[in-house]
Amino acid sequence: MRRKYLIYWRLPLTSYVGSKVIAQPVYRVDRSYSWNYGHSPTLPRVRRVPSGPGGKLFDHPLNSPIGIAAGPLLNSKWIEAYSRVGFDVLTYKTVRSMAMPAHALPNIRPVENREHAAIATAKRVDGQPTLAVSLGIPSVEPEVWRKDVRRAKDRIGSGQVLIVSVVGTWAPGMDAEQLVQDYARCAAWAAEAGADAIEVHLAVPDPFAEQPQLIYENIPLSAQILYRVRTTMPKPVLAKLGVFRTPRLLHETATKLASWASGFVMTHGVRRRVVDEAGNAAFEGAGRDRATIVGADTWPLASRQIEEMLSWRKAGAWDRAILGVGGITTVERADHLLREGADAALIATTALFDPLFAIRFRQLRSTAVA
Ligand SMILES: Cc1cc2nc3c(=O)[nH]c(=O)nc-3n(C[C@H](O)[C@H](O)[C@H](O)COP(=O)(O)O)c2cc1C
Repeated sequence: MRRKYLIYWRLPLTSYVGSKVIAQPVYRVDRSYSWNYGHSPTLPRVRRVPSGPGGKLFDHPLNSPIGIAAGPLLNSKWIEAYSRVGFDVLTYKTVRSMAMPAHALPNIRPVENREHAAIATAKRVDGQPTLAVSLGIPSVEPEVWRKDVRRAKDRIGSGQVLIVSVVGTWAPGMDAEQLVQDYARCAAWAAEAGADAIEVHLAVPDPFAEQPQLIYENIPLSAQILYRVRTTMPKPVLAKLGVFRTPRLLHETATKLASWASGFVMTHGVRRRVVDEAGNAAFEGAGRDRATIVGADTWPLASRQIEEMLSWRKAGAWDRAILGVGGITTVERADHLLREGADAALIATTALFDPLFAIRFRQLRSTAVA
């Protein structure tokens, strides 16, 4: 039955929120990606968004350093809706140089992380959700998203920044140079359309590796992509990175990529095998046995990596922006990373069902000041 995967608002409603509020899902995980693309959320009307603590990203002043990572904001309507409820760093969902459909439903499932695999459950999502995502990085045609990025930029206000996430599309027979070119083409289009910064999604499979790995684990290829993106368009470039096998690899990668990146967005999520309680594949179809695990359970791993990056930056290894992502399911977690020195704290999973997160963060900060 459809309802079993629905994610509902937790209704953390306060006096800032209009009186007529009906519990309803934000992103409908029981509906297709296209359906969600066409149905932007009707968020509660917020009468007065508390003022933010300020911040800065590159040359842009921010109302607050709280934002949304690549994924939940499917198009300019989603961006507009979340920009009205206190999120100031808004990432336009990853786009490609060609249209690409999403994987079939289900493509987002709540999971429990167990030792051997992530187990898809039919439980209602609670306040600390962990999800498996197997969407396949869908994209609309470039003509559509290029116009829509322009609209998104027009709809956000002062003290807010628009990041556009891009990925190269590989097809059998393509060499590395063609993939690099494809990343750069998308980045140039996004910059031209009005993005304030470009996020280069490197946490995707490396099509040239003999052993399965993600592109950020291939330092020469990642450096080539970032270099080409950086020299093709004038906006700051952010590298999206995932989990590293060791702190040494993280350090080595960040140090090498720092020459070509203005900042890092991490941690993307954890690739894991996902099965249901009976041990059957949780997502049907070839190549879908592994999915990206995101949300609450990834916090220990993600926050450790972010804190390591912050210490190296403090120690003077390099001086680049660090946007913390991964398992930020409470305002206290966001606050912790920001106090440690992160330039921004971004949420994805929590944004799907708790659109008033940024308002609660602002309340937390104003209480702390008082
Ligand atoms: C529904 C959904 C869709 C996502 N799509 C993308 C995407 O298109 N590109 C990308 O770089 N990351 C994508 N992500 C990953 C998020 O950007 C983020 O790295 C990850 O979810 C970890 O943050 P979280 O624990 O707050 O969810 C997606 C995440 C979710 C939940």
